[in-house]
Amino acid sequence: MNRRNFLQQSCSICITTLMSSWLIEACSVSNKLMQTQLHGQEVELNANLLQDGHFQIIEASTLRYRIAVKQEQNGQYLALLLMCTHARNPVTLTGNSFYCPLHGSRFDDQGNVVQGPAQKPLIHLPVNVDEQGKLHIQLLPWMIES
Ligand code: FES
Repeated sequence: MNRRNFLQQSCSICITTLMSSWLIEACSVSNKLMQTQLHGQEVELNANLLQDGHFQIIEASTLRYRIAVKQEQNGQYLALLLMCTHARNPVTLTGNSFYCPLHGSRFDDQGNVVQGPAQKPLIHLPVNVDEQGKLHIQLLPWMIES
């Protein structure tokens, strides 16, 4: 094998490995993202979608920011508005915490500030559960695009 063939084969292996990791990452992100529609000023969600203890990210076309929701170990539900409290930039889920790419604020899995410049925690949204096991996440009017 000459040097040229060696470099071509090495590059194709690297590109294949890189493409595979991107594809796996893209699939895992899409698994966490759920499209839904608003019902008045609330989001409805089946509670059985949250049984693994991980955040489920919810998005709706008329919702200004995504919502992260999960069931805590004590059985309660936690819903966080993914809006940075520093300058209202969207925050993203990174592992089990949240990051704002605009100025670098970080929030823990309860929405508390870990690193500024944000001073206030992420907004907690009230969650009610009905008799059918459906979650109702309450929104405020400014969170909905008209
Ligand atoms: S808007 Fe998020 S850190 Fe500034």
